[in-house]
Amino acid sequence: MVDVSKILNEALRECNDCADLDSLDQVRVKYLGKKGEITSLLKQLGKLSPAERPRVGNEINTAKTQLLLSVEEHRKILEKTFLDQSIADETIDVSLPGRGNSEGTIHPVNLALARIEEFFIGLGFDIGEGPEIESSDYNFTHLNIPEHHPARAMHDTFYFDDKLLLRTHTSPVQIRTMEKNKPPFKLIAPGKAYRCDSDLTHTPMFHQVEGFCVDKNVSFADLRSVLLDFFQFFFDKELELRMRPSYFPFTEPSAEVDISCVKCDGSGCRLCSHTGWIEVLGCGMVHPKVLSGVDVDPENYTGWAFGLGIDRLAMLRYSIDDLRSFFENDIRFLEQFIRN
Ligand code: DAH
Repeated sequence: MVDVSKILNEALRECNDCADLDSLDQVRVKYLGKKGEITSLLKQLGKLSPAERPRVGNEINTAKTQLLLSVEEHRKILEKTFLDQSIADETIDVSLPGRGNSEGTIHPVNLALARIEEFFIGLGFDIGEGPEIESSDYNFTHLNIPEHHPARAMHDTFYFDDKLLLRTHTSPVQIRTMEKNKPPFKLIAPGKAYRCDSDLTHTPMFHQVEGFCVDKNVSFADLRSVLLDFFQFFFDKELELRMRPSYFPFTEPSAEVDISCVKCDGSGCRLCSHTGWIEVLGCGMVHPKVLSGVDVDPENYTGWAFGLGIDRLAMLRYSIDDLRSFFENDIRFLEQFIRN
């Protein structure tokens, strides 16, 4: 029979050497598991003479208990070390200054757009969109601006090639919407437009909203009343509105719309160049040629349309005097806009 105390001493030494719980468990299994060294000693007891059995059996059981106690004791030590270590690692220095959570704000152009959408959604309008990379057909031809028409030259267009360009206005969305659906149409289409133009009051990219309404018996008077309601809603005050005759190839008749100055209420100030009026948009009755081009019968249907610059409206509403501040991404500027 093997020397029990030798095995026990070896086991106790291995147990003490363990640096983590996994290896400690391996030691336990190695000696006390089903096939462990001490366990198999017990199984061999039968081979001993009846006289020897009680003594050796006792010796093995004592060794087993001793090892179990040692494993348990060691486990507690390891667990405590582990816990102490993780507490030390996860210590939070509550005296450190916080990182701060700066809350985002909404860009004034988007604030203005949200107001515009709120008004027109209230009137039952849909919101549409179209591509910023447009073909000259949609940007010009279908809007009754044929090739070599002087209006093309006035648009300062960014061309990719003969056919493709960056849309110079949101009006092509009128065509794209009407050719895919059947009247009636009540839609606004906000988005970016591009012109090769840059100074105090123009940026190469700017924002427009196209609005149009095509149905039976739609009149110029409807257009005027919708626009007046809209501007009073947008600026949250009573306003005067006046229309001046103008020209756009895709509307007939066409008009330019002024509102009484939102700053001086018409008495004259620097903002309105002492005229009392501020120009805000172009509009008109959709040209019969535009309607028939998208298979809408101009004998049965009429419609109005307008195109307005969102950036300018945002400047007026939030008293911003330099258009470029919209696009400089200066956090100190942007942070000021919390509500619309
Ligand atoms: N598309 C014109 C522009 O950008 C604005 C415009 C004028 C749109 C009259 C319209 C309209 O729908 O009827 O200059």
